[in-house]
Amino acid sequence: MKFFLDSAILSEIETVYKAGICDGITMNPSLVKKAVDEAKAKGEKMSLETYLKKALKIAKGTPVSLEVTELNAKGMIEQGKKLFKKFNPVAKNVYIKIPINPSFPNEKEKEFDGLIAIKTLRKAKIPVNCTLIFTPEQALAAAKAGANFVSPFAGRIDDLLRTESKMKFEKTDYFPSGGIEDDGDMLNDNGIVSGIDLISECVQIFRNYGIKSEVLAASLRNARQVRECALEGADIATMPFGVFKELFSHKLTESGIVQFDKDTPKEFGKLV
Ligand code: E4P
Repeated sequence: MKFFLDSAILSEIETVYKAGICDGITMNPSLVKKAVDEAKAKGEKMSLETYLKKALKIAKGTPVSLEVTELNAKGMIEQGKKLFKKFNPVAKNVYIKIPINPSFPNEKEKEFDGLIAIKTLRKAKIPVNCTLIFTPEQALAAAKAGANFVSPFAGRIDDLLRTESKMKFEKTDYFPSGGIEDDGDMLNDNGIVSGIDLISECVQIFRNYGIKSEVLAASLRNARQVRECALEGADIATMPFGVFKELFSHKLTESGIVQFDKDTPKEFGKLV
C-alpha cells in the first residue's frame, strides 16, 4: 500500500520525503489554508505559487493532488486545466482533485458536473483524483468517468455515525471497522457501518470488475485505520503528519531504546 501525506505544510512534506516513506501528497482547500495561515504566522513571505512549486519539487516522481475550488463543470474544467498547465511542468506530478458532486444542498442542477469535469480532464490526458466520496456507488461512478484515484473519506463517515447517534468523541478516537451497536441496532449510513467498511466495499467492487482506478483511502485519523486499510487492500492511504508519526511509534519501542541505551557497554563505542 502506498503512503500519501495529507498536508500542504512544507516542513511536513520535507520530513516524510527525507525519511523515504512517502509516495505522494494530497491537498485540499482547507489544508492549503492551514499551510498559508501557518506560514503567515511565522512571518514567511513566500507566495502561494512558490510554496506549491516547492512542494511539487520535493515530491518529484510521486503524485500531488491539487484541488479545484470552482463549483460547476465549466469552472472546474477551466481551473483544472490552468492548474495543470501552470504547475505540472515543475515536476510532472500534478493530479487534479475534483469533487464527485459539487452541488450545494438543494441545488440539484449540478449533480453531474463532477463526472463531466473528470471525463473532460481525463480526455485532455490530465490525471484526476475524485474526492468527497462517501458511498461505493459514488466510487464506481467516479471510476466509470475515468478518475485515476478515487478518494473515499473514512474518518468523516465515522464522524457522521457518531454524531447522528449523539456520541461524544474526539476525531482521532478509534472507530471499530465492524461498526458499533447502539440500543441493539448497528449504526450505519445506508448500510455502511464504518469508514473502513466504506473503503473495504470500494476495494471489493473495484476487484469484482477489474477496475483500474486506485482506491485512495482518505480522512484517516489514526494508525490503526491505516492498518485496516492495508488489510482491506486499499491501494493508497493518505494521512496527516501526526498519523505518519503514529505508524512507527510504540511504548515498547521507547522503553526498549531506553534500556538498550542504558545497557550499552562503554567498550562498544570503541569498536568502530
Ligand atoms: C484527502 O484527500 C482529504 O482531503 C482528507 O483526507 C480529508 O481528511 P479530513 O476528513 O480529516 O479533513
